Parts: sequence; C-alpha cells; structure tokens
Amino acid sequence: MAHVLHLDSSPRGARSHTRRLTREFVDMWRRRHPGDTVSRRDLGMEPPPHITEGWIAAAFCAPEARTPDMHAELSLSEHLVDELLAAGVLVIGVPMYNFAIPAMLKVYIDQIVRIGRTFAFEPEDTVQPYKPLTYGKRAFVIVASGDAGYDPGGPLAELNHVEPYLRTVLGFIGIRDVDFVYVGNDEFGGERLERSLEIARSRVGHLAASRFDPPLLPQPHFSHAPSTAGLDSGARSRDETV
Ligand SMILES: Cc1cc2nc3c(=O)[nH]c(=O)nc-3n(C[C@H](O)[C@H](O)[C@H](O)COP(=O)(O)O)c2cc1C
Repeated sequence: MAHVLHLDSSPRGARSHTRRLTREFVDMWRRRHPGDTVSRRDLGMEPPPHITEGWIAAAFCAPEARTPDMHAELSLSEHLVDELLAAGVLVIGVPMYNFAIPAMLKVYIDQIVRIGRTFAFEPEDTVQPYKPLTYGKRAFVIVASGDAGYDPGGPLAELNHVEPYLRTVLGFIGIRDVDFVYVGNDEFGGERLERSLEIARSRVGHLAASRFDPPLLPQPHFSHAPSTAGLDSGARSRDETV
C-alpha cells in the first residue's frame, strides 16, 4: 500500500492538459492499486509563498536554537515536507513556462528542499557533503507545452529545462525513480494536439498500471551528475513529435 501525493501546478482550470492528465493518472492508479490513498495539493490555484530572509535564517538555524518566530516562519514548509515524506508516489503536473517549470512549482520546491529534512549537509565529508534524506519514492511528471518535441530525442529537447532541472533537484533530495509524460501542441490545437493527447494518455495508462515497490534500503548518495535515465538518442522530425 502506498500514499500518493497529487500535485498540480497549472493556474488554468478545465483547459489545463496537465490537470486533466494528472487526474486521469490518479484515477487509473487508484483502480489499479485500490488500497492506496491519495492527497492533493493545488500549487496552480494556491501557490505557496516565496521564501524570505526570515525563512532562510530559520531553515539554516539548528532546530533546537529556533525561536518561536522562526518556527512560525517555517510552519508551512514543515507541513509541506511532512506531506511529501508521507507519500511513496508523486504525480506532478507541470506546464512548461518559458522553457522551464512555472514559478508556482519553483516556490514549492524552495519550500521542500530543506536542510536536515529532505537533504543533509555534512561539510566534514569532503567527498559527498550533500546527502539525500528522501527515500523510497517514485515520481511521475506530466509536462504540457504549446509547441512539441521537447521530450528527450525530440528536435526541441535542448530547450527543455523542465526535465533536466526536475531530475536534478528531485535527485538531490533522493527521488531518482522519475518518469516523464509529454503532451505538446497546445498552441496548434486540432489533430496535432489530439494525437499528442492520445500518446500521452496511452503512456499514462501504462505507467499508472505499473507496480510500486519501495526500496527497503536507502538509495545511494547524491551524485552531482544528473541522472540521464529516460534520455534516449536519435532525433526525430518535427511532425513526429509529441
Ligand atoms: C507564461 C507562459 C509561458 C509559456 N511558455 C512556453 C514555452 O516556453 N514553450 C512552449 O512550448 N509552450 C509554452 N507555453 C504554453 C504552455 O506550456 C501550454 O499552454 C501548456 O498546455 C500549459 O499547460 P496546461 O495546459 O496544463 O495549463 C507557455 C504558456 C504560458 C502561459
């Protein structure tokens, strides 16, 4: 049995492809894994606040030395970290904004990448001072874009700062088992969009049917080299892209 954390970061409602596909993913996952539980956080409609000077001072202060104001400053962050750590499976909807993740998701990441909670910093370890503390999770990321071909191997793959960034930052805290689903062509609409949605839905169906077996042992320490899992080679022509 696993707990699923369903995160959306599109500010669009019914028109959002990521929102619709994460919902379909979670519905299918529930049918395939009936014992699993789900919680949802809507970063698109209710983005967390930006971090502040007070937040930074509190986050980098030893927990036992924090003042009541510092604890108050971190209370949302603590809650978001608890919520993340309670989940075994993450389903994340990500609209591509200016080739990268939307600000709503970035502020969430700033709130959950926390020293002493999701990663450790051990300066005396000269080889590997940063250590992930977030184990045994699997993430599924659904990315939507106006154009197409940003997926690995696609003609616009080099412009994709969503997947490399998310693989780096999730890997930094210990989440390495990450699958991406792409839906493109929102700006073109019509058949191109329909075909892309069809491919994305089929991949969602396949991934939502997969097993989730949390590892029993902590995963190896973070390496500064981002994972290239899922990156294949072979460029495709533009009209083959999703
Ligand atoms: C502010 C903004 C920036 C965007 N930047 C890009 C971009 O860099 N590349 C792209 O292909 N589409 C871009 N788009 C289009 C969105 O990625 C596309 O509409 C996508 O479907 C949004 O996800 P959603 O349907 O879940 O809301 C942008 C849209 C907005 C509103």
